[in-house]
Amino acid sequence: LAGQGALAAARAEFAEWLRGHRVFTLSSAEVRALHGGCLGPLVDSAFDRVDLEVPDGEAAKSLRQAERLWEEMASAGGTRDSRLISLGGGTVGDLGGFVASAFLRGIEYAQVPTTLLAQVDASIGGKTGVDLEAGKNLVGTLHHPRWVIADPMPLKTLPVRQVRAGLIEVVKIALACDCGLFEALERSSDRLDGGAPGPIAELVPRAIEVKIGVVEEDVEERGHRRLLNLGHTLGHALEAADGYRTLLHGEAVGWGLRFALQLALVRGLDDDVHRRALALLARFPVPPLPPLSIDTVLEFIGRDKKAREEGPVWVLPLEIGAAEIVSDLPADVVRHELERFFAAESEKS
Ligand SMILES: NC(=O)c1ccc[n+]([C@@H]2O[C@H](COP(=O)([O-])OP(=O)(O)OC[C@H]3O[C@@H](n4cnc5c(N)ncnc54)[C@H](O)[C@@H]3O)[C@@H](O)[C@H]2O)c1
Ligand SMILES: [Zn+2]
Repeated sequence: LAGQGALAAARAEFAEWLRGHRVFTLSSAEVRALHGGCLGPLVDSAFDRVDLEVPDGEAAKSLRQAERLWEEMASAGGTRDSRLISLGGGTVGDLGGFVASAFLRGIEYAQVPTTLLAQVDASIGGKTGVDLEAGKNLVGTLHHPRWVIADPMPLKTLPVRQVRAGLIEVVKIALACDCGLFEALERSSDRLDGGAPGPIAELVPRAIEVKIGVVEEDVEERGHRRLLNLGHTLGHALEAADGYRTLLHGEAVGWGLRFALQLALVRGLDDDVHRRALALLARFPVPPLPPLSIDTVLEFIGRDKKAREEGPVWVLPLEIGAAEIVSDLPADVVRHELERFFAAESEKS
């Protein structure tokens, strides 16, 4: 369920889902302080409610946290028909899905995403996971939530920087798969700039619809769904090489999208389309590129989870709303374009 009033609209059916069941609610103290209240009316039909707390942000996504939660759930009398609700950003959602997928071999769960990124991306598709020392998201499962309730109400307290990072993922979805969504973004980009809630409330359900369409077509992630990795080959490498310090995920993807557009020029992307995409991205400013050497960036591109299996894969937007998966880009072309990209950006800043 997505859009204005989704929380209220979900209430009756949600009550049925929880009636007679024990419910675990999972959140960080920070998010619960802001939006814990919206769970109240949703869960009052459950016969017992147990609140579980995790550290805020990426620190939630560890096996240690998962194990502690499983112990707490077992001690609190959790059974096969207990339910779990994650309230928070993508971190709480990924951890909650992971915990639910393995507790007693799997219990039903719901997502109430409170960041834009979690609403349009992380909560859709059933991917769950935690981080290892060796890298992010290296352990996980596929476990679809029974419910995703994406209501724009909690987004009101989201810092502008987080809103913009989320909007960049919406641009990604549009550029890769849906020209209509791209045009809608262009039309409302004036009003989106400061993170105004009105137009966002309209775009979120649309972006979710597009992502669901892609995911449903390709549940195993063998084909079409990989288009959603647009901007992520360089994006993930930048985040990791920078030690997750200066860029939010969506911001790193913003740089990744710009670079994918430049690479796409090599494969015949039209100059005007290139300019048009850059113009939309410019509406959502991101911090400067971290000062990294090209060798470091290339090394991290090679380390990516997907690159480990089959070498670097690039998703190149060849038109608005139509991207292509390319795994045969010669390494020297990538290096040359990266050098140009970093040189041009450092000149600008
Ligand atoms: N499963 C997937 O398919 C998928 C896809 C994309 C990203 N992810 C994961 O999502 C995570 C990132 O998610 P995120 O960007 O939501 O980060 P996050 O969960 O860390 O949230 C970011 C910050 O926003 C705060 N916050 C949350 N809701 C708020 C609100 N309504 N008002 C004010 N502050 C609020 C949180 O306290 C946190 O500090 C990463 O771990 C990434 O791996 C998963
Ligand atoms: Zn992403």
